Amino acid sequence: MKAFSFQQQLLAWFELQGRKDLPWQHPISPYRVWISEIMLQQTQVATVIPYFQRFMQAFPDIKTLANASLDEVLQHWAGLGYYARARNLHKTAILITESDEFPNSVEKLVVLPGIGLSTAGAISSIAFNHSAAILDGNVRRVLARFQAISGWAGTASVNKKLWELSRFYTPVARVADYTQAIMDLGATLCTRSKPKCEQCPLIKNCKAYSQGIVAELPTSKPKKISPIKTIVLLMLHNNQQQILLEKRPPTGIWGGLWSLPEFETIEAVNNWCCLNNMVIQQQKSLKTQRHTFTHYHLDYTPLVIYSHNLTNIVMETSPSLWYKAEEINTLALAAPIKQLLQQTMER
Ligand code: ADE
Ligand code: SF4
Repeated sequence: MKAFSFQQQLLAWFELQGRKDLPWQHPISPYRVWISEIMLQQTQVATVIPYFQRFMQAFPDIKTLANASLDEVLQHWAGLGYYARARNLHKTAILITESDEFPNSVEKLVVLPGIGLSTAGAISSIAFNHSAAILDGNVRRVLARFQAISGWAGTASVNKKLWELSRFYTPVARVADYTQAIMDLGATLCTRSKPKCEQCPLIKNCKAYSQGIVAELPTSKPKKISPIKTIVLLMLHNNQQQILLEKRPPTGIWGGLWSLPEFETIEAVNNWCCLNNMVIQQQKSLKTQRHTFTHYHLDYTPLVIYSHNLTNIVMETSPSLWYKAEEINTLALAAPIKQLLQQTMER
């Protein structure tokens, strides 16, 4: 599709449906656009609005911000997250105040702390109406779908393609409106889930739509394959309907919670039983289950053992106790362990 038609359709839609009452648009100034773009980098518009308003009351202009202490700035940022943004904002305010004018080009903006290529493009185009391209999450999604670009945007070649497309479609005139329009389209219609394609001004030329692959784009980051750790969890029953529990060390998984004694293998359990001169009445392993942590899968096999002569069993390293499964709610147990004990009671 010709860049001109793309711009025309987007701008016509913006006239009717775009967001024209955002607080940083009234009054518009480079300072206000800059602050809003930094806040919007990792935070949704609805969350940003009240923060932006309070921030402007506290720091109405760049001089006030430069002269404020970092603590004051951080206080007004509290709750927005990604606090490096606030620290960079303060540094940049000081740098800009030391020069005589607000930087207006991508080249001058992109060297400032906290301002990447896309944010530089957004400030340059929205505040100065310069013809500068942007590629934030919204624009990336719109362009990847519109031209059916597959592959994760973190890949250099895909990123390059998307930047080229963004530059190709960025107009020479009315750039402020265009930039706001394409961001608004991504935020309101071409959303990650349930996009409203029927209302989209680009639907007739959208490749993802015509190929029926809107939901698959943009391609998400490939998932890392998590390593698998296998353990055996001992469910040792004595003759008073009690199970042996062991307290987890304070750090690491399930830190400080009560759990079942953990062994590397069934053989290791049997060695331990031998060492303690246990007479095993009955032994049975249950089905292996998986618990997934952020960085790995834990495959645990519960091993049920019944024994009578257990009076003197203690774990060498951790606190332990004998526990009646019915008292399940009186201890802080790791969730999968609690589930296991509940299943035991139901048997
Ligand atoms: N996200 C980033 N910049 C934005 C802007 N100017 N308006 C709405 N959402 C945005
Ligand atoms: Fe996005 Fe749908 Fe519009 Fe294509 S038609 S640009 S997928 S909203």
